[in-house]
Amino acid sequence: MAKNNIITVWLFGLEIGKLGYDIDKKASYFQYNPAFLESSQYTNIFPYIFKRIKPVQVFNKFEGETFRGLPPMIADSLPDRFGNIIFKEWFEAKNKEFKKITPLEQLTYVANRGMGALEYQPVAKIPKTSTINIEEIVEVLNKVLDLKNETSEKELSNIALLNVFKIGTSAGGARPKILISEHKETGKIIPGDMEYSDDYNHYLVKLCMNEGQEKEYNREKIEYVYYLMAQKAGIQMMPSKLIDNKHFATLRYDRQNGEKQHVLTASGLTGWDFKKPDDASYENVLKLALDLKVPYKDIQELFRRMIFNVVFANIDDHLKNHSFIYNKETDSWNLAPAYDLTYPLNINLNYSNVSRALSINNKRNTITIEDVMRIAEEFAIKNPIGIIKKIQGASKKWKEATSNLQIQKKVIREIEKEFVELV
Ligand SMILES: Nc1ncnc2c1ncn2[C@@H]1O[C@H](COP(=O)(O)OP(=O)(O)O)[C@@H](O)[C@H]1O
Ligand SMILES: [Mg+2]
Repeated sequence: MAKNNIITVWLFGLEIGKLGYDIDKKASYFQYNPAFLESSQYTNIFPYIFKRIKPVQVFNKFEGETFRGLPPMIADSLPDRFGNIIFKEWFEAKNKEFKKITPLEQLTYVANRGMGALEYQPVAKIPKTSTINIEEIVEVLNKVLDLKNETSEKELSNIALLNVFKIGTSAGGARPKILISEHKETGKIIPGDMEYSDDYNHYLVKLCMNEGQEKEYNREKIEYVYYLMAQKAGIQMMPSKLIDNKHFATLRYDRQNGEKQHVLTASGLTGWDFKKPDDASYENVLKLALDLKVPYKDIQELFRRMIFNVVFANIDDHLKNHSFIYNKETDSWNLAPAYDLTYPLNINLNYSNVSRALSINNKRNTITIEDVMRIAEEFAIKNPIGIIKKIQGASKKWKEATSNLQIQKKVIREIEKEFVELV
């Protein structure tokens, strides 16, 4: 491995190991730091894929868009569709071709600014910025994302683009989002990559970008109503709110108690590709949870989320929309709070062939009570009917929950039509 093709991986202030990448072979290499292995600290941070051995380990089966040749736990630190569009824009504004950047080099831009607690060195130098104006950011993002109108990009000021790059590229997912920290006392808002202390509330904000566009409506408000529904259904989520009655802000579970929390998605933990159907089932996520030895209440909670997603027609329940969170005191894993619960389709468009990302009893469509009861049996879920009834009860409050939010009647009606009654 050439020296500039190696970076180091850090967690909780410890060097965990070295990571290499061979662009021609599209293979990556990982070697644990012997001192870390010998310390026997945090032995369970990577339960799968990495063996706890001293020699170099080679990974050549994680090629492709999802993992980009990297070990999946590390690939979890890279942005997804939205973050990569912004990253590319910013990178190319510095007159460098995005195509030429390796995933390893991109990790040096993630550095100590990524989601979760993993950090990478060396740290690529990025100018500092400190103020945030959400409206300005939305404006800049609108220009960056308006791919039809390419000339507008050239007018972007460096500072605006830098800001958007810094706070918009860490989180995964396809929709526009930024990370911000809001001071608990002064209310001052700063970029989300600067502080993780308890003096701030750390938010992931999903931005409403489409106001006034034809055939569009505010999806972030819908996600907010789903959050209200999830609360009624007894699902565990981070406290969330609307900013300016339009953007969906949710507290980050990877920034709690003034510390970074080590989190991985179901896809990142296991190497199951979230874009492929092969491993995408609720049974697998539940088996993974059992294998991670999460407490029983988390198994029950996963079942509850599955029912919620069926009843509320959230078919975008893929393997990156479920995460686990590591407890460094006990060296063990728990289910992370739920996120990305929403109506994922646009009611104004016609779709053909859409189906649920995670199968239930080998089915991705027209899920019945028999299907979910099979899962309840297999995983010894207590009181499944009670869970289902509570969630269906919440769905009856849908209209009521949407009131005062200025959502078009048609949108409310059309989404409600998609709700499913299991019992
Ligand atoms: N409250 C949260 N705290 C920490 N990380 C989160 C939170 N909500 C989402 N994430 C992470 O950010 C990613 C993107 O968020 P998500 O809501 O799934 O956006 P999208 O709709 O673009 O998929 C998720 O895959 C998850 O890893
Ligand atoms: Mg998502």
